[in-house]
Amino acid sequence: MKVLVATEKPFAKVAVDGIRKEIEGAGYELALLEKYTDKQQLFDAVKDANAVIIRSDIIDKEVLDAAKELKIVVRAGAGYDNVDLEAATAHGVCVMNTPGQNSNAVAELAFGMMVMAVRNFYDGKSGTELKGKKLGIHAYGNVGRNVARIAKGFGMDIYAYDAYCPKEAMEADGVKPVDSAEELYATCNVVSLHIPATAETKNSINYALVNRMPKNGLLVNTARKEVINETELIKLMEDRPDLKYVTDIMPVANEEFAAKFPGRYFSTPKKMGAQTAEANINAGIAAARQIVGFLKDGCEKFRVNKK
Ligand code: 3PG
Repeated sequence: MKVLVATEKPFAKVAVDGIRKEIEGAGYELALLEKYTDKQQLFDAVKDANAVIIRSDIIDKEVLDAAKELKIVVRAGAGYDNVDLEAATAHGVCVMNTPGQNSNAVAELAFGMMVMAVRNFYDGKSGTELKGKKLGIHAYGNVGRNVARIAKGFGMDIYAYDAYCPKEAMEADGVKPVDSAEELYATCNVVSLHIPATAETKNSINYALVNRMPKNGLLVNTARKEVINETELIKLMEDRPDLKYVTDIMPVANEEFAAKFPGRYFSTPKKMGAQTAEANINAGIAAARQIVGFLKDGCEKFRVNKK
């Protein structure tokens, strides 16, 4: 059995060493394809792989067509919008993610970006503090819960909206649930996005929603670029010179944002939320163990596509 790690954005070496230990310890072979620049390299690498570990790497019908021996793809991370689930099901391939394994890393980066933004990107001018400010957590999953935990240490007043999470779970964490996204944005000085990119959420962060934020509002995106209606956010930031936007997922319109909103906009050059040794180890080794469990015992815990 051959397990391929295909990561355009590589894991830390220590995580690859851990993955190798799990895979070779189970008697399988490990192959590595890192920093590839061309889809053909991925086609060539998957053709005899029985299992693949990926990050944000695109697994579409073409890749699945090329992967004749493939039984399982594990997305070492949370969001699996980069995998064509229907095509995987049609090819008889099981798709899993590793929920929660990189959540703390993403949550910590959200705070790194928040502090940077409220301190005016360290330009020397007087900024503001997070203590006492209202933080809105948009979606209360694994990352949202870590954001809430860290926000308590900052002394923030914490609100959350998540249609799929029981309010009691938020209240148990000292978080105030609100009834709608509209209410969250209208209430909070800072909103941190943790929604996945789905048909329902794509383009949903739009002019009308963000315009509800109070004066000097800050929007923090460590989720996905697809959830932002970029055209409308640009228009809103033109109309509202008090608003700031910081993101870990470079917008399609990055150059326009950067040119139009100096001192109010920042994007990391490459998605960095989960790019820590700890998150790489947690998610990478979880992915390797899930593959071994699937190949040896047929365990399908964390499967995300239909059979
Ligand atoms: C995730 O969905 O787990 C995060 O967005 C991290 O993605 P990455 O592995 O591409 O950094």
